[in-house]
Amino acid sequence: MKNISLQILLVFTAFFIYRCGTNKQPGNENNVQGPDSSGTKHKYDTVLMMAGINSKGVGRFDNIKLTHPLDEQMVTSGKRIYETKCFACHKLTTELLVGPGWSGVTSRRTPEWIMNWVTNTKVMLDKDQAAQADMAVCLIRMPNQDLTDQQARDVLEFMRKNDGKN
Ligand code: HEC
Repeated sequence: MKNISLQILLVFTAFFIYRCGTNKQPGNENNVQGPDSSGTKHKYDTVLMMAGINSKGVGRFDNIKLTHPLDEQMVTSGKRIYETKCFACHKLTTELLVGPGWSGVTSRRTPEWIMNWVTNTKVMLDKDQAAQADMAVCLIRMPNQDLTDQQARDVLEFMRKNDGKN
């Protein structure tokens, strides 16, 4: 039984190494579907979504109150943080770069999970199933970004904006 799970994991891992490599082509910035339409993107999204979709993650945040409409000041600050600290590894589409693209992240992850992830990355990687599933895809541990709680909240607001939430 254990061996079968290991084999499945290896097949997935090989598959995603291939995907991470092929996604680094220039010129796909605005191509939300990625370079092919064979359904590969769909499988990738499904694997990420299956892991801990309702989880709050591990950390101090267990009740984030979202504002409606979006707080545009936080969006602006979050965008600036994205452009300085996150941009090198995350696209705003569904495409993988070093880490997963952020399109749809506020639907597949709870606000609490995102806040805990960004402020408690190392512990989440050690303990959280969804974070570990992401890492199985990306094969690199996201470094701690040393954001304050407010900065993490601002980035979350920017992600909501990117997802067309209001
Ligand atoms: C050096 C590359 C790198 C940088 C810089 C980086 N990340 Fe990541 N991020 C990753 C990787 C890789 C993952 C996937 C999990 C893993 O393998 O550790 C990830 C995962 C995530 C996820 C989960 C995505 C999902 O779909 O589940 C979020 C949210 C995230 N990062 C936010 C941020 C924020 C916010 C910043 C900037 C403040 C940032 N990241 C900077 C590499 C990076």
